[in-house]
Amino acid sequence: MMLLVALALSAELVIAARVLTERAEAELDQELVHEGDKLRDYAERAVDPATGEPYREVRNLLAGYLAEAVPDADETLFSLVDGRPAHRARAEPPARLDTDPRFVSRIAGLSQPESGTVASAAGPARYAVFPVRLEGAPDTGALVVVEFAAPVEERVASTVRVLAVVSFVALTLAGLASWQVAGRVLAPIRTLRRTAETIRESDLDQRIVVTGTDDVAALAHTFNEMLDRLQSAFAGQRQLLDDASHELRTPITVIRGHLELISDKPAERSRTLALVLDELHRMNRLVDDLMLLAKAERPDFLDLSEVDVTDLVMEVLAKASALGDRQWTVSDAAEQTVLADGQRLTQALMQLAANAVRHTRPEDAISIGTTVVDGRLRLGVSDTGTGIAPEDCARIFDRFARTGHRGDRGRRGDGAGLGLAIVASIAHAHGGRVLLDSTPGKGSTFILDLPLVPADGHHHDTATAATGRSEARR
Ligand SMILES: Nc1ncnc2c1ncn2[C@@H]1O[C@H](COP(=O)(O)OP(=O)(O)OP(=O)(O)O)[C@@H](O)[C@H]1O
Ligand SMILES: [Mg+2]
Repeated sequence: MMLLVALALSAELVIAARVLTERAEAELDQELVHEGDKLRDYAERAVDPATGEPYREVRNLLAGYLAEAVPDADETLFSLVDGRPAHRARAEPPARLDTDPRFVSRIAGLSQPESGTVASAAGPARYAVFPVRLEGAPDTGALVVVEFAAPVEERVASTVRVLAVVSFVALTLAGLASWQVAGRVLAPIRTLRRTAETIRESDLDQRIVVTGTDDVAALAHTFNEMLDRLQSAFAGQRQLLDDASHELRTPITVIRGHLELISDKPAERSRTLALVLDELHRMNRLVDDLMLLAKAERPDFLDLSEVDVTDLVMEVLAKASALGDRQWTVSDAAEQTVLADGQRLTQALMQLAANAVRHTRPEDAISIGTTVVDGRLRLGVSDTGTGIAPEDCARIFDRFARTGHRGDRGRRGDGAGLGLAIVASIAHAHGGRVLLDSTPGKGSTFILDLPLVPADGHHHDTATAATGRSEARR
C-alpha cells in the first residue's frame, strides 16, 4: 500500500519535473521572441545620435540598441557585423559566446532568424539570431540573444527537490498515522484472537468483553454466542456420558455380583446364567439406544423416502400387537404419502406402543392413528392406562427419566428411560415435536406432530421442515 503511494509520488515528481522544465523552456523561447520584437521596434523609431537621422549602418543600429539594452542576469546580447562579433550589452554574462569561434562561425552566415540550443561554459543555453539588414547600408549584421538555461534548470531542480522532500515527509507521516490507526482498529481483533487461543475445551466459560457497537463488537458478540452454544453442546455431551456410565454401572455390578457368587450346583448355575444373560441383554439395548440418541444429533440421521402413512400405521399396529394382549385399534388413517424416514417413524411409534403396553392392563385399549391437521402430519398412540402426573409430563422426555419406582432401577422389566428421548429426537429430526395429553387414571395420548412434507417433490414444506428442525433442536 505504502509502496504504491510511494510509486505514485515518484511518478508525480518525474512528471512535475518534466512539466516545469518544458514550461521554463517555453518561457525562454518567449524571451527570445520578445528580444526580436524589441529590436524591430527600435529599428523603426531610433535615430542615429551622430546624424539625428535614422541609422544608415547596421553596425551603428546594433551598437545603439545594445547600448540601451538591459539584459537579465542569465541573458546576454551581442551583435555580429559582417560575420564578426561587434558589440556586446553591458552586463557580464555567465559565459561568453561571442568569443566562441565555433558558435560565431555557425551563425555568421544566417539570413533568416534562427533559434536553437548551444553548449556554453555555463551549461546549455538557448539562443536566437536575428539577422538585420538596412536598406542602403554597406554592412549586414545580426543581433544574437542568448538565454542561459542553467539557472532555469537549477530552479526547476530545486523546486522538484522541495517537492520530493515534502512528499517524502507527507508519505512518512501518512504511513505512521495509518500504522497507528490500523493498530487501533486491529487491537480488539487481537484481543479476540488471544482470548480464542486461551479458550480450551476445559474452560469454555471465558468470554470476550464486548465494548462499543461497531463491527468488531458485533464479531465479539457472535463469538461469545458461539461459545455459549459450544459450551452447552459440550455440557450436553458430558451429561450424556455421565448418565450413560452411571446407567451401565448398575448392570455391570449386577453381572459381576452374580458371576462372583456363581455356585457349582447346575440348577442355581443356570438360573444365574439366565439372570446374567438378561442383564447383558438390557445393557445391549441401553447401548443401542444411546448410540441412536447420539446419532440423532447428526445431519445424516434421517434416510428420507416416500412413506405411505396408512401402510406405516398398519405395520406398526401389526408389530405392536405382539407386545401384549390389549384392545388394539386404528383411530384414523389419513391417505397421505409423505417424505420421511419410515423406519425411524416406526421406531418412534413402537417406543410409544411399548410404553402404552407397559402402563395398561389387558382390558385397556391402545389405538394408533394418523391425521393431517392444518398442514401438519400427526401420528399418535393413545392408551387408557395409568396416565401421567402433570408434573412429570415434561420431565419424562429427558434421558433416563422414569416415574414412580425410582428405587427400583435396573430391575427386570423396567425401561432405561430412553424411549421418549428417542421419540423426541426422531420428531425433532423431522422438524416436529411430541405432544402429550394425559390424565392420571384415564390414559395418555402421545402425538408426533410433524410438518407435512408431501412426497410429490415440488412442495415448499421441504424448506419449512428444514428450518423447523433447527428450531426444534434448539
Ligand atoms: N403411556 C404411558 N403411560 C404412563 N406413563 C408413561 C407412558 N409412557 C411413558 N410413561 C412414563 O414415562 C417414563 C419414561 O418413558 P420412556 O419410554 O422414556 O422410558 P421407559 O419406558 O421407562 O424406558 P425405555 O423406553 O428406555 O425402555 C416411563 O418410565 C413412564 O413412567
Ligand atoms: Mg419406553
